[in-house]
Amino acid sequence: MAFSDILKNKDSEGKEKHVPVIEISAGSGGADTISVIVGKEIAHPNTVEHHIAWLEVYGVKGDGQVVSLAKADFAPAYTSPKIQLKVVLDGFETIYATSYCNIHGLWENSVKV
Ligand SMILES: [Fe+2]
Repeated sequence: MAFSDILKNKDSEGKEKHVPVIEISAGSGGADTISVIVGKEIAHPNTVEHHIAWLEVYGVKGDGQVVSLAKADFAPAYTSPKIQLKVVLDGFETIYATSYCNIHGLWENSVKV
């Protein structure tokens, strides 16, 4: 089984609560803001028994280089799966995000820069 076979995305059942939504807004000083939110449409449960455990954000440059931009672990019931980054996006073509639900597995999304 290929790694991509275990990733769930915008076409998968339960997508509204699990797919990381990526939003990019123009910033100042050469850095833009990337927001990644899980459960934007419908909030995901946030309990010890069922929660989003972590998010990761990657950028892919025009030459194919992959850059790990951020990783965040969440404490269920205390922190919500939403992060915001300041990123210099020059040279990046695509931003990917993955999120992990302790029950429903690994989810992904991407946006072109
Ligand atoms: Fe879940």
